[in-house]
Amino acid sequence: MQHSLVTGASRGIGRAIAVALSERGDRVAVHYGSDQDAARQTLDLLHGEGHMLVDGDLSDPAIAQRAVDEVLASFGRIDVLVNNAAIAPSPETSHAIDAADYATWNHVWERMLDIDLRAPANMTFLVARSLMDRGLPGAIVNVGSRGAFRGEPEFPAYGAAKAGLHAMGQSLAVALAPHGIAVTSVAPGFVGTDRQQQKLAGPQGDGIRDQSPFGRVATPEEVADAVVYLSSPRSQWASGAILDLNGASHLRS
Ligand SMILES: NC(=O)c1ccc[n+]([C@@H]2O[C@H](COP(=O)([O-])OP(=O)(O)OC[C@H]3O[C@@H](n4cnc5c(N)ncnc54)[C@H](OP(=O)(O)O)[C@@H]3O)[C@@H](O)[C@H]2O)c1
Repeated sequence: MQHSLVTGASRGIGRAIAVALSERGDRVAVHYGSDQDAARQTLDLLHGEGHMLVDGDLSDPAIAQRAVDEVLASFGRIDVLVNNAAIAPSPETSHAIDAADYATWNHVWERMLDIDLRAPANMTFLVARSLMDRGLPGAIVNVGSRGAFRGEPEFPAYGAAKAGLHAMGQSLAVALAPHGIAVTSVAPGFVGTDRQQQKLAGPQGDGIRDQSPFGRVATPEEVADAVVYLSSPRSQWASGAILDLNGASHLRS
């Protein structure tokens, strides 16, 4: 049985990943930032026994360490880390260069790089070192974004953080391979999580669906299925990969 830690699993894609990993038979640590009720709902959806909750704002390195320590104390080891937590594009985080003031621009850049890039870097450090200390193999999967390749004109810090996350995953795939640890990323396009339903139901909805020639957006479960594969010991040879999950809405060479 694998022991897995999924960050940002109180809702959305993280919740779907936690459920899918539990269906595989993993014991799952459901991490959340602040919404304990939602995280408990995720816990209730999991299959099997022995799962746990762990909280904390991962932009604080000490809190990230405390979260990993709590999971290690309870599970004994973490075989799989899924770096899913992030602050995503929203009206609150919009910082278009031709509209935002300088203070907003700086604030959003700092926060997005802290949460969407530095936090996964710290979580990767902590979990990878715990695996090395125990001489165990493992897998780290980063939830990146199509925006790293397609551009995020209104949210450049988000695009940059996700591009950095993909690049970090590739560097660490090389560094961690001698330790038997695989590192991969998924790069989803638009995903129809609860948070996105209002946008999909509104005037922009058709345009978003038409980004893909399939005429729809992804389900959280489609992203979760890919993470199940990439976090399995059988996918070690995919280490270093960035898997596009965008319904052919953006092709890159
Ligand atoms: N949805 C999409 O269309 C889409 C597309 C491409 C990529 N992605 C990526 O997929 C991942 C999940 O997206 P989503 O739409 O499911 O996200 P979401 O619904 O906004 O959920 C974000 C999760 O991250 C946690 N979180 C946020 N800030 C945090 C912090 N500072 N410290 C710890 N946890 C924090 C939240 O916890 P609390 O709510 O408990 O605070 C929540 O569990 C993200 O990496 C996102 O960039 C999403």
